[in-house]
Amino acid sequence: MSEHTKVLVGIIMGSKSDWEVMKHAHDLLNQFGVANECSVSSAHRTPKQTLEYVSQAETRGLEVIIAAAGAAAHLAGVTAAHTLLPVLGVPMESAALKGLDSLLSTVQMPGGIPVGTLAIGKPGAVNAALLAIAILANQRPELREKLRAYRDEQTRKILQEKLT
Ligand code: RP5
Repeated sequence: MSEHTKVLVGIIMGSKSDWEVMKHAHDLLNQFGVANECSVSSAHRTPKQTLEYVSQAETRGLEVIIAAAGAAAHLAGVTAAHTLLPVLGVPMESAALKGLDSLLSTVQMPGGIPVGTLAIGKPGAVNAALLAIAILANQRPELREKLRAYRDEQTRKILQEKLT
């Protein structure tokens, strides 16, 4: 399997209902040519399957895991507990508390097992992909150049915007 097709990032989410948001992470990784795999894996509904996936991730060649969940969002923390790979947590917006519950459950990890937590919802999904790319880019100069070009393009677009 070549570097381009080797799956480097695993995106897991607690429910299929998270996919609409997490698809933004998947799309952005694809845009950068980073092979990724997406699946539903719940810390409480499919705990055994989640443990199996996460504990095999490193030997399967994954380098980053993005874990998205909403409400009592244990997924990223449970994932981080079972792997040495960097785990990026994306709190999903929830019906009851608009994602504040998800954010606190994901970000408030006690010292010792880190979860790199991003913003609630779509901005978090986008930034999780960009952070995963930045991590991978440390060892991949061509990916770093793509990231530089992405930032340059973003700057160019903002500078072009007119208010009136
Ligand atoms: C969490 O509960 C999921 O990550 C999702 O964000 C939330 C609601 O899940 P569903 O009831 O829509 O399946 O576990």
